[in-house]
Formats: sequence, C-alpha cells, structure tokens
Amino acid sequence: MQITVKQAPENHRRQRPKSGEKLGFGNLFSDHMFLMDYTSGKGWENARIVPYGPISLDPSAMVLHYGQEIFEGMKAYYARDGAVCLFRPDRNAERMNRSAARMCLPEIPVEDQLAALRGLVRLDREWIPKDEGASLYIRPTMIATEAGLGVRPSAEVLYFIITGPVGAYYPRGFDPVRILVEEQYVRAAKGGVGEAKTGGNYAASLLAAKNAKALGFDQVLWLDAGQRSFVEEVGTMNIFFLLGGELVTPPLSGSILPGVTRDTVLTLAREWKIPVAERPVEIDEVMKGAADGTLSEAFGSGTAAVISPVGSFSCRGREVAVNGGKAGELAVRLFREITGIQYGEIEDRHRWIHRVE
Ligand code: COI
Repeated sequence: MQITVKQAPENHRRQRPKSGEKLGFGNLFSDHMFLMDYTSGKGWENARIVPYGPISLDPSAMVLHYGQEIFEGMKAYYARDGAVCLFRPDRNAERMNRSAARMCLPEIPVEDQLAALRGLVRLDREWIPKDEGASLYIRPTMIATEAGLGVRPSAEVLYFIITGPVGAYYPRGFDPVRILVEEQYVRAAKGGVGEAKTGGNYAASLLAAKNAKALGFDQVLWLDAGQRSFVEEVGTMNIFFLLGGELVTPPLSGSILPGVTRDTVLTLAREWKIPVAERPVEIDEVMKGAADGTLSEAFGSGTAAVISPVGSFSCRGREVAVNGGKAGELAVRLFREITGIQYGEIEDRHRWIHRVE
C-alpha cells in the first residue's frame, strides 16, 4: 500500500500538552490523520496522511442515517528505551475486519491497517505523552459514505485514523468504581451486533449510563437480553470475577465484545497458574459472593482503562461492597504487568509489542 503524506504547515500545528499537564480522555487530537477511500468494484485506494481536520459528508451519507460504522481503540507508548510501541495492534486489526464483516463493510488487509497505524504514529510521535500512565490513543474508524437513503450496504466507504494524547480513562484513575446492575435496558442480544465494535452499541448504552450516573454510580453492569440473569459486560469493558479463587469471565457467546485486554488478562492468569473459567455467571452468584466474601475481586478490562477495579455492585436496591471497596491484589498485579509490558519495563514474552521504527 502506497501512502501519500501531506504534512501540516508549522503555523497550523496544534498546541501539544505540556509534561505534567492533566490529560483527560479523548479531548485532544494530534496534527495528522490517515484516510483511505473504498468504492465497490474498485476496492481501497488513495491512502493518505493529511493534516487533522473536518471531513465533508453528504447529508444523506448512509452512516448518518443507519449507523453503518465500526471503530477500534488502541494505544501507542514511549517505551523506557525511547522506542515507540503499539500493544497487540494485529488483534485490533483482525477484530476490525470481523466487525466489518458483520456490518457489511469492506475488510482491510491486516498488514495495510498496521502500515497505516505505523505511518501515522511515526509522523505524530511527538504527540505521545511521556508522563507515567499516559499514552497516545488511536481511533481507527470506518463509515458508510455513499449518499442515499436506501437501506442497503453502502458502495462507498471511508476509513480514517485519528490519534490523541490521553491520561487515565476514569478521572479517579485506578480507584474502584461503583456499579449499578442494569435490569431494564440491555446492551446487546445474541444474534445482534454486540460482538462488533460498532457505534450503535455505545449509543444504545448511553441512557442506562446516564441514569446510573444520576444515581451516583460510575457505570452499569449489563445483563443478558433473554433472562436478565447472566452478566455480560461492565460499562464499555469486559468483566472479570475472582470467585472462590477462580478467575471467571462470561464466554464470548455472540453478544459480548471480544476484548484484546480480556484476552491478555486470560493469558496472564493462565500463566500465573490461576484457575480460569470462561463460563456464564449469574448476577445472583455475584451478589451472593460479594456478600459472603467468596467474590474476592471484580474488575473491568479494556484498552482505555486497562484494568478498572469494582468497589461495589448495587442490585435491586441493595449495594454490596467487593473486597471492602478496595482494589484487589489480582487487579493491581494485572494492571502493573500489562502496563509494565506496554511501557517496556517488563519483558514482552508474548511478542505483544510492535515497535514503530
Ligand atoms: C475500551 O476500553 O477499549 C473502549 O472501547 C472504550 C472506548 C469506547 C472509550
């Protein structure tokens, strides 16, 4: 794939955050973006890196009406030795293609996705923050751009990648979160699009999250659409429970996002000889375990927050603390191990790190 590059003129460069400046999540964007166009019959063409800026769409562009859209999330880091690193970007690229297949969008060869990522991150490497815990968040996105209101797969598609410096995903960092068990709304149903990373899943989650926040909770725990008995995900993350010494997470049964961090957690736990089970988990088992102490830890996993400990679950008006409301040992160990590998402080035994040369 040939990528043409048009650099932003010096006087149009954006103000980069200073070292020590508090970074939120997703509010700042770097100087450049990657774009590539698809037309049915012609395939992908015109791969280019250009100055970051607005894109123009016909008001009838299909994405605006029927939500034919997918995205990914990953991060670039400065390793200890000064190298620029990506964490398991091949996994994100593969998932992008699975999401594409589900949403009738065209796939992009994994190698081409990686070349686009490397080209963009290399050019904007000065935007990667060097402060502890900070990174450059990368958001590859694909949208249906054909003009027209017919409900059918778009014949024209735009793939773009934007990046921006981020700090901790939650303003309170690694502090345990208060979770409300959501019993009215569902995130996804089997046979739906829950395992695709598509914007509609996140739009569908907003009302429940808004209601939970109004009640003082940080996020919701999603239950299955059929019976409202089984746990699915927490907020925008996969969920793990340490139950009776076994690390348990719901299986990827169609309505759950196959998280890259989820897979990383499972791999590390198995290596550490922690018993691991991917099996259905009933909310009653969670609440009972939290009350009697068999549930010693619960945490979410995702690219943005990495590991997010759960301090309590509230279900049917009853709130029960997990591990006394404190982050558990395993959550801390996983967070340190994963971020240690990402920042090149811990040996990368699994070849998860891709260096951007
Ligand atoms: C992630 O943690 O990987 C996410 O997808 C969260 C993002 C939607 C902000």
